[in-house]
Amino acid sequence: MTTEDPPPIRRLADWDPAGLRDLAETYDTPLYVLDQGRVRENVANLQTAFHDEHVSYAVKANTVRRTLETVEDAGLDAECASAGEVQRAVDAGFSTVRYTAVNPPSEDLDHVVALHEAHPEIDLVVTIGAADTLDALAERDYAGPLAIRVNPGVGAGHHAKVTTGDAPKFGVPYDRVPDLADEIVERGYDLVGLHAHAGSGIHGEDDLAAHRELVARMGDLARDLDHDLDFLNVGGGLGVPYHPEQDPLDLDAVAEATRDAAGDLDAQLGIEPGRYVVADAGVLLTTVNTVKPTPETTVVGVDAGMTTLLRPAMYDAYHEIRSLADDADDRDEVTAMVAGPICETADVLGRDRRLPRPECRDVFAIGNAGAYGYEMASTYNSRPRPAVVSLDGTGETSVAVERETLSDLTRLEGQQ
Ligand code: LLP
Repeated sequence: MTTEDPPPIRRLADWDPAGLRDLAETYDTPLYVLDQGRVRENVANLQTAFHDEHVSYAVKANTVRRTLETVEDAGLDAECASAGEVQRAVDAGFSTVRYTAVNPPSEDLDHVVALHEAHPEIDLVVTIGAADTLDALAERDYAGPLAIRVNPGVGAGHHAKVTTGDAPKFGVPYDRVPDLADEIVERGYDLVGLHAHAGSGIHGEDDLAAHRELVARMGDLARDLDHDLDFLNVGGGLGVPYHPEQDPLDLDAVAEATRDAAGDLDAQLGIEPGRYVVADAGVLLTTVNTVKPTPETTVVGVDAGMTTLLRPAMYDAYHEIRSLADDADDRDEVTAMVAGPICETADVLGRDRRLPRPECRDVFAIGNAGAYGYEMASTYNSRPRPAVVSLDGTGETSVAVERETLSDLTRLEGQQ
């Protein structure tokens, strides 16, 4: 790392509270704020550390058009998990797209094959994770390049629900890959790569050891195949520190370890992080609706909940919460539970948080919300999804996604 490199992490404390308060005032809450300048910094940090590797962005972390355009412009390619993601990546200008087909529905294959025929200028690779996806593509006369997603039998991640590399759902079992590779080539396809993904939120020694093991196994497999490959992609999953006390990943060390574990390859080594690119580029702003002292804790009811940010309810994920009240420093602290407006016990964004004594109409900022935040929002409890504003990195702010309205919720029901 040189002195010109951007900081490895933007903490919630690094965001200007007055600027965030103004955004909440102007655009209302709940509101996602995405700083494209920070997205660029994250891309630059990845490019510096993984200087010899190919880096794609796993778009599932954040597919907001403005973000995709930033990432494309900064020089990464796109990794997509569905036809919808492929379409959005192409619409945003990506010209190199990897489609990792997970149990692909017919409509997805129809769409991607048609897109490949209509846009030969787009460098599209379909990565199959099951042998019968090859038949499904052949039925559709797909003639483009293919890669195999491998189940390496080694997983890692911040939660069992996002540990992938040893989950039978994903990828072709390791020992069956050579036969499938032969079949792909015999059927006249261009086999260009192998792919595996350990899981999401790799952070800490055990996860990194699993990542190295996965890469080593994949390096061995690539060397053992009787076919030349263009690439070996070892997935995404680079973690970010959600806790303020947690250190950021040492990206240079991870890159070095990845390279070492892969060993000598004739193929280009690649990674495809999602979270790392966008997590700390986003915050979620939310307003306090109710403050309720109870014998157990102070319950602070805010206008964002599990439909806005699902991660705490789904994975018990920790997101830092900060009061933006201008007199926050002068207030006593209380221990609080920050809860949403959804009629579910799981609808809690943070427990046992020390916060300046909250008052109704205070605005809170929730950190590291740029990855899998807006992307996993839903309309459960008939709650319209929030708006997203984008900071363009030079001081300009604009609405990247409008706030949904109540009439948006019933639009698809038509006139009844
Ligand atoms: N490549 C593949 C094949 C993947 O399945 C994923 C994530 C990635 C790359 C990117 O992983 P990342 O670098 O973002 O960790 N909703 C969960 C994360 C699910 C990730 C699914 N696959 C969360 O909020 O933690």
